Amino acid sequence: MSVLLEVKNLSRHFGGLRAVDQVSFSVQEGAIKAVIGPNGAGKTTLFHLISGYLPSTEGMVSFMGRDIHHKKPFEIAALGLGRTFQHVRLFHGMSALDNVMVGRHTRSSAGFLSGMLALPHARREDRAIRERAMEELEFMGIASLADTEATSLSFGQQRSLELARALALEPQLLLLDEPAAGLNMHETVEVGETIKKIRDRGVTVLIVEHDMSLVMNISDEVMVLSYGQKIAEDEPLAIQKNEEVVRVYLGEDDG
Ligand SMILES: Nc1ncnc2c1ncn2[C@@H]1O[C@H](COP(=O)(O)OP(=O)(O)OP(=O)(O)O)[C@@H](O)[C@H]1O
Ligand SMILES: [Mg+2]
Repeated sequence: MSVLLEVKNLSRHFGGLRAVDQVSFSVQEGAIKAVIGPNGAGKTTLFHLISGYLPSTEGMVSFMGRDIHHKKPFEIAALGLGRTFQHVRLFHGMSALDNVMVGRHTRSSAGFLSGMLALPHARREDRAIRERAMEELEFMGIASLADTEATSLSFGQQRSLELARALALEPQLLLLDEPAAGLNMHETVEVGETIKKIRDRGVTVLIVEHDMSLVMNISDEVMVLSYGQKIAEDEPLAIQKNEEVVRVYLGEDDG
């Protein structure tokens, strides 16, 4: 197995706050790796840094051997690094299918403008993109909702839709920020099964998640952040027995 993502000494400061502080780790191709840690530990900030949504204060990020540090989010997405958000981001007033297609258009050769002008080449491409988008809606089990206005879907369906959009970009690596947040127990188990299916398609997964049963069930490796710093990185069972990790979580309960 080769290294797909490598992060070195990555830091992001907000004024005096070190939200991400000298974090280094790598993700092996084909793995499901989890990032856990108490609220405010810096997990989402770390994802923003990797996917180009936030500039870093210092450090390095390389993806498939290429330096992606300082690249823009759409450039990083086009290289095959997809993501979803802790707070679902969908386009209002657009159908579920169109929400998936929008993501894919960023990667098409015809581009958005010629698509709007309905040039023949763009029309052909549009049909191909539509088919790919429908396949991902089917994969997520929401194909029957393709024409439904996206933001009128249930919360769980909106999360599935966001995943379909990320998958339509055919990513090599997918960053999932709390995919089970707000879901009930049954839906959370389903998300776990879906993530395993995504990995079986050959997509490497880096996931931030608070649901420990989900994390321990699906992950090959778990990394723990506390106050922006990496305090542990190991197999799930070893993480559960790690004294510092246990202390960090118990401290959270006390507080
Ligand atoms: N844009 C910002 N400006 C200032 N501070 C920020 C900003 N974004 C995040 N922070 C701070 O950085 C720290 C890390 O936040 P982050 O959202 O990365 O945590 P998290 O681990 O994702 O937490 P949660 O589990 O609650 O989602 C927090 O103290 C947060 O208040
Ligand atoms: Mg977060």
